[in-house]
Amino acid sequence: MTEVNAVASLLDRVRPDVVFNATAYNRVDAAEADPGAAFAVNAVAPHLLARASRLVGALLVHYSTDYVFDGTSSRPYREDDTHVPSVSTAPPSSPASTSRRRPGVSTS
Ligand SMILES: NC(=O)c1ccc[n+]([C@@H]2O[C@H](COP(=O)([O-])OP(=O)(O)OC[C@H]3O[C@@H](n4cnc5c(N)ncnc54)[C@H](OP(=O)(O)O)[C@@H]3O)[C@@H](O)[C@H]2O)c1
Repeated sequence: MTEVNAVASLLDRVRPDVVFNATAYNRVDAAEADPGAAFAVNAVAPHLLARASRLVGALLVHYSTDYVFDGTSSRPYREDDTHVPSVSTAPPSSPASTSRRRPGVSTS
């Protein structure tokens, strides 16, 4: 997934109508220890996959997690709700790369 040219060339060859992305770096503790690896798989790769999908006219369906929300909503979450993650979603070198914990949730 992190090999941009391989993903783009696969889509170009297969020409799918729909692409399902269920890949994820989902080991939370490891992601906090190595945010660069997590960001590459969970943010950069889906972005590039979305661009490659658009280029071949494919619909991209991306699986994610409600862990990007803080769990305090009284209604079901929507994709465009404000993200209040328990862990950083910004690149490791970004000033926005701060760590926040979801209330009441432990990763240990
Ligand atoms: N399971 C659930 O109950 C559940 C619930 C809600 C949401 N989700 C979401 O669904 C998504 C998938 O979860 P899951 O439970 O299916 O996780 P999973 O069993 O750990 O599957 C993740 C897959 O991503 C692959 N992967 C990781 N890095 C990759 C890379 N760089 N290139 C190619 N493949 C890579 C892994 O391949 P390897 O095995 O080869 O490492 C693995 O097959 C996640 O976004 C998760 O948050 C899951």
